[in-house]
Amino acid sequence: MNQLLICNAIVVSSDQVQEADVLINEGKITKIAKAIDADAETVIDANGLLLFPGGIDAHTHMDLPVSGTTSSDDFESGTRAALFGGTTTIIDFANQTKGESPLSAVKKWHSKADGKCYTDYAFHIAITDLTSNIEEDIDQLINVEGITSFKTFQAYPTMQLAIDHIDRLMKIVAPKGGMITNHAEIGNTINELTDKFTKQNKLSHKKHPKIHPPEAEIEAVQELINLAIKNKCPSYVVHTTTGKACEIVTRARKQYPHLFLETCPQYLILNESVYSEEFETAAKYIMSPPVRTKKDITALWKHIKNGEIDVIATDHCPFTLDQKSVGKDDVTKIPNGAPGVENRFELFYHHAVNLNQIELTSFVNMISTKPAKLFGLYPKKGDIIVGADADLVLFDPDSCKTISSNNHHMRVDYNIFEGQEIRGSVQKVISKGVIAIDGKNCFVDKGCGEYLKRRSPNL
Ligand code: URP
Ligand code: ZN
Ligand code: ZN
Repeated sequence: MNQLLICNAIVVSSDQVQEADVLINEGKITKIAKAIDADAETVIDANGLLLFPGGIDAHTHMDLPVSGTTSSDDFESGTRAALFGGTTTIIDFANQTKGESPLSAVKKWHSKADGKCYTDYAFHIAITDLTSNIEEDIDQLINVEGITSFKTFQAYPTMQLAIDHIDRLMKIVAPKGGMITNHAEIGNTINELTDKFTKQNKLSHKKHPKIHPPEAEIEAVQELINLAIKNKCPSYVVHTTTGKACEIVTRARKQYPHLFLETCPQYLILNESVYSEEFETAAKYIMSPPVRTKKDITALWKHIKNGEIDVIATDHCPFTLDQKSVGKDDVTKIPNGAPGVENRFELFYHHAVNLNQIELTSFVNMISTKPAKLFGLYPKKGDIIVGADADLVLFDPDSCKTISSNNHHMRVDYNIFEGQEIRGSVQKVISKGVIAIDGKNCFVDKGCGEYLKRRSPNL
């Protein structure tokens, strides 16, 4: 029998913090109790370290084609980096191109990911076109592929789904038990501002936040929420950046509770001043939506403290400086996106628990349990409970480190959090009962990560 025993840990689950031992058998958690007496093959003395459930990053873009190039982490390098950072499951976005069947997009994403991952993985699908068989295809996505979340973009010509089509998609998805995840920016606003600056020949990188103003997000969130309420369709706003958008969703929940908010560490830590830097620095932060004002950062933290933000994800979508350099004189050509999958767990721990006094159980909910519940992976994933997969992070709350591209594993030549000093770091990562990461060493091979078919959201 393949048993692993973790002794003397401070076990942090979604609803309690307790000193206990955790027994793992054949990859599953079988017992959580004080002083477990078991003849395990491997025993780890956690000696007062925190034990968290493995992180779930519900928003990544590995190997994603963008603006004539491809995000620099593929599923192999990106999931290995994720694992080093305490994330044991990712949910990546398979993107339907216009005219393509969503089933063919998912097949493409399987060919990118299968056999390459170090973490378990699942897919959302971005629906960009209501192709002729869309109803049957969505049935198949939900019932055969286990894909229960459908992303819509309110902006970007190659991705945008017109608002009446989002309405129709909600009518298809809601009765089948699916959820909409939405990129909220009004396409017309972005297009008009891009045209204006193009005509004025003012397309330096400094225009990025001007082309993507907060109003574009706020209006888009309102539009989405109105549709969600009308259609009674569970809906989730990805990478929320503004306090106003959070207020709209928080208020609307009184009318319809199944509305959810995601934000990412960059929107909680970095501010718009990065865009005043010279191109070589600022290009690292060209992502959509852009990072915002200090006032928005304060507002987002307030919503986190109130329990109104459900999920912390990354929107990991890295491009090297060389890839970014194509947009030196034209911001519209810079591939949008930033790295973060490796840093989310430790960085959010430091800012949430150390600096903002967020409860450990709330940290666990945002980093693991809530994404597992909303995306149909719970109780297999997302918590330390008997019967769950033994995806665990042994975490030293007192060990300090400096975030840097010199010590990260992401395939990108900078880190947007370079120089951040954080307290609390991942010591060991256990994936399905196997010690996968121990300090600087990785003990598993690519392909150990499995594809996860998901169920409907656990609302
Ligand atoms: O700039 C970003 N966020 N790129 C990734 C794609 C998306 O919009 O989420
Ligand atoms: Zn997006
Ligand atoms: Zn994204």
